[in-house]
Amino acid sequence: MKTQLLLAASLAGLAVAGHAQTTTPAPQVTPAPQVTNETIKPQPAAKIPSAVATSPDGKLVVTVATDNEGHATYAITRAGKLIVEPSRLGFLFTDQPKFDRHIAITSVTRDKADTSWTQPWGEWRTIRDNHQEMRVRLTETDRMQRSIDVVFRLQDDGVGFRYEFPDQPQLKTVNIADELTQFAIAEDATAWWKRALEWNREEYLYDRTPLKSVGTAATPLTMKLAGGTHVAIHEAALTDYAGMNLTKVADTNTLKATLTPGAGGPKVSRTAPFATPWRTLIIADDAPGLYMSHLMLNLNEPNKLGDVSWVQPGKFVGVWWNMISGKWSWATGPQHGATTANVKTYIDFASANKIPGVLVEGWNVGWDGDWFGDGNQMQFDTPTPDFDAAELQRYAKAKNVHLIGHHETGGSASHYEAQFDRAFGYARDHGIPAVKTGYVTDAGQIERVDADGTKKREWHEGQWMVGHYLRVVQAAAKYKVAIDTHEPVKDTGLRRTYPNWISREGSRGMEYNSWPGKNPPEHEANLAFTRMLEGPMDFTPGILSLKGSDNSDILSTIAKQLALYVVIYSPVVMAADTPENYAKYPEAFRFIRDVPTDWEDTRVLNGEVGDFVTIARRDRKSRDWYLGSITDENGRTLTVDLDFLEPGRTYEAQIYKDGADATYATPARHSIAFDTRRVKKGDRLTLQLAPGGGQAVRFKAR
Ligand code: NOJ
Ligand code: CA
Repeated sequence: MKTQLLLAASLAGLAVAGHAQTTTPAPQVTPAPQVTNETIKPQPAAKIPSAVATSPDGKLVVTVATDNEGHATYAITRAGKLIVEPSRLGFLFTDQPKFDRHIAITSVTRDKADTSWTQPWGEWRTIRDNHQEMRVRLTETDRMQRSIDVVFRLQDDGVGFRYEFPDQPQLKTVNIADELTQFAIAEDATAWWKRALEWNREEYLYDRTPLKSVGTAATPLTMKLAGGTHVAIHEAALTDYAGMNLTKVADTNTLKATLTPGAGGPKVSRTAPFATPWRTLIIADDAPGLYMSHLMLNLNEPNKLGDVSWVQPGKFVGVWWNMISGKWSWATGPQHGATTANVKTYIDFASANKIPGVLVEGWNVGWDGDWFGDGNQMQFDTPTPDFDAAELQRYAKAKNVHLIGHHETGGSASHYEAQFDRAFGYARDHGIPAVKTGYVTDAGQIERVDADGTKKREWHEGQWMVGHYLRVVQAAAKYKVAIDTHEPVKDTGLRRTYPNWISREGSRGMEYNSWPGKNPPEHEANLAFTRMLEGPMDFTPGILSLKGSDNSDILSTIAKQLALYVVIYSPVVMAADTPENYAKYPEAFRFIRDVPTDWEDTRVLNGEVGDFVTIARRDRKSRDWYLGSITDENGRTLTVDLDFLEPGRTYEAQIYKDGADATYATPARHSIAFDTRRVKKGDRLTLQLAPGGGQAVRFKAR
């Protein structure tokens, strides 16, 4: 099992119409962006030379034009400065000529909105959507006279655009070989990126390179331009389409879209009318500005599930780290982790510390063989004989906690789909409100079995799997079960539309700190401005023992483990270490016990991509604020203004900081100091972070 582990290691709320930030809930729903339903006929083009749209504050300007060969392009300036040079728009098809040249702009229409909506759970309760929209029809002037609309949405902090394929006789079935979309960055830049379309899906460390040296990257890809402007390219509302990666065009600063393949054939197959996901560019002065953007969430459709009060944020513990670190096994036998007795110990611990959830992995039949890349034995309604489901349900309920389920598919996605109703019915009937799922297999190795029995190999972010992940979330919603996806598709903001998609992994989490080749100290400072721009991450922080497999050292301080509860947002957060280990660190554990997982407000106080970040968040259920600050391998002193605190109120700052001698590099990683102070708005706090360290603060309102 250890070998398998090592393999694995390398492995809306209601919308509120109106202007400004209305918070009064009104039953009005922001209209979902509509794909035009009119059937359009080939027609001679009335050519419009260019089309221009600006953000509400006038700072961002998008210009759509055509060049002398009739390539359609878009360009973006910010405060008069070119950020994205004229960049191509278009498509390659598998069964038709490409849509690329001899294109004219044949119509331009505009719209705008300024509304606010409420997140049922999240980093911010209220999200403002203030945007200008421009719809540009691109029509071929030669033989086929096909038309595609490009819709731009401009917010003050970024631009989203998507293609909409209207219904037209000459392009009814749309078989996309790839997109021709480009992002020609106007300056040299430093890029933070992780490779895409390699064997290990999205679990790579981030590279920091000149933009010119980027290979094929997953999104979000984050850049700091030579002039200081920060840009992050990603996508929003990825449904029924292939995920977008970015490939650098050699010797240029131009990135081009590369769609994730499927099991052969077109990368995307659709019937018009339909819209692609939004291609997004957050554009900000600095790294904190990237995190504060709501562009991606605003480009998603409002909640489709109605009442989602059954989706409960909260912390959890679990029969987990002992497997990850090699002490217990998922498989049955003498080291089986998910026994009735072990689970009861975790239930007792959770209950004693008011932690609502207990995750249990390896509870079901199917783990005894080689599940890596083959989950066809997995039965998600059949516990192993040493796991007494009825007794554990009773015991958990009596102790006011619930179990969290686990469905490891081993990549056998069709086998999973065939048992959705049994699996989620079992969860509902056993008082399990959330399930963690898993797709442990190499990229391109997901098993899809079609109705006629044909077996295919799919990619985690190909069109079919994009559909699969959503089918899981929709099937679970019928049973009022929330989903936390591991080895997921990237997050493109669909939590707004399906709020039971409560978290996901999608980058290297804590598990890598157990295995050889650990996350370096800069990893979380990279995540904050790359992966975390997607949304919640089930990172599983809180390994206070700072020990992984074979007693190996984790490259962190204890205080940093605490700070991660504020920095790495997830509405469901694990206290990932074991009860025995937490018993050794009672003072530090107090922060984990106190910290909430659902926030009223979030402010990024400072940060540089890959170096450091400080985030303050206000609890949704109280007036308390929490602060987390982390650094890379360099120690540093940061001063923060406590301007976020409420005026006229005093707070008790409960401080968990690196000890004077602390460093991730030696046993002094365990050195932690505690301090308590009275503070108020206007005060300043100096944070002394050790190399690889951090600081966590609770501001308890008085
Ligand atoms: C990988 C997941 O990230 C981890 O959390 C889980 O324990 C294993 N797969 C087994 O499903
Ligand atoms: Ca994983």
